[in-house]
Amino acid sequence: MKRVGVLISGRGSNLAALIAAQRPDTYRIVLVIANRADAPGLGIAEAAGIPSCVIAHHGKTRETFDAEMDAALRAADVEIVALAGFMRILSDGFVRAWEGRMVNIHPSLLPAWRGTDVHARVIAAGETQSGASVHFVVPELDAGPVIAQDSVPVHPGDTPETLAARILAVEHRIYPAALTLLAQGKVRLEHGLAVFD
Ligand code: GRF
Repeated sequence: MKRVGVLISGRGSNLAALIAAQRPDTYRIVLVIANRADAPGLGIAEAAGIPSCVIAHHGKTRETFDAEMDAALRAADVEIVALAGFMRILSDGFVRAWEGRMVNIHPSLLPAWRGTDVHARVIAAGETQSGASVHFVVPELDAGPVIAQDSVPVHPGDTPETLAARILAVEHRIYPAALTLLAQGKVRLEHGLAVFD
């Protein structure tokens, strides 16, 4: 059983999916950190009886903010970090410290469409497919090796909101599956690649 820390900034629906899928023989979420005190996801952690804290980023350098998160994660004996709608770019030092033990969910078929505002850009480009990806976190944004991915159709008339909702259902399915694989040691980061057993 691996001890997982989840970092959030907002709604927390992926956090809820990760909580629902935790098992005694895979992983347990032992800490939720939000960088915003008003993140609705904090209520999800509380309802599940999971310790949570707010580490605000305002007025701090990236390094100071990341050092505070690192200290909180280590104090809770966290072994794996899961970013779930966490909207801050992490310093290279923090990423390197957790490399191979930190994953993220991104709402596109990586390596396509990294960054923010994904659904509007996918629709504007006339894509007929999009999806979601779980990947190891590396210093370059949304560039880490993919652990799990699945696609959905983009329908004519889709808005960013309708497409986001279709993709969110995929996120909630693949994120717990990928975290379970990592916790079980069935996937690891090796020489910049995701290696599966
Ligand atoms: C998800 O779409 C995730 O892929 C993106 O931000 C959203 C977070 O949603 N990075 P939630 O907070 O997990 O509900």
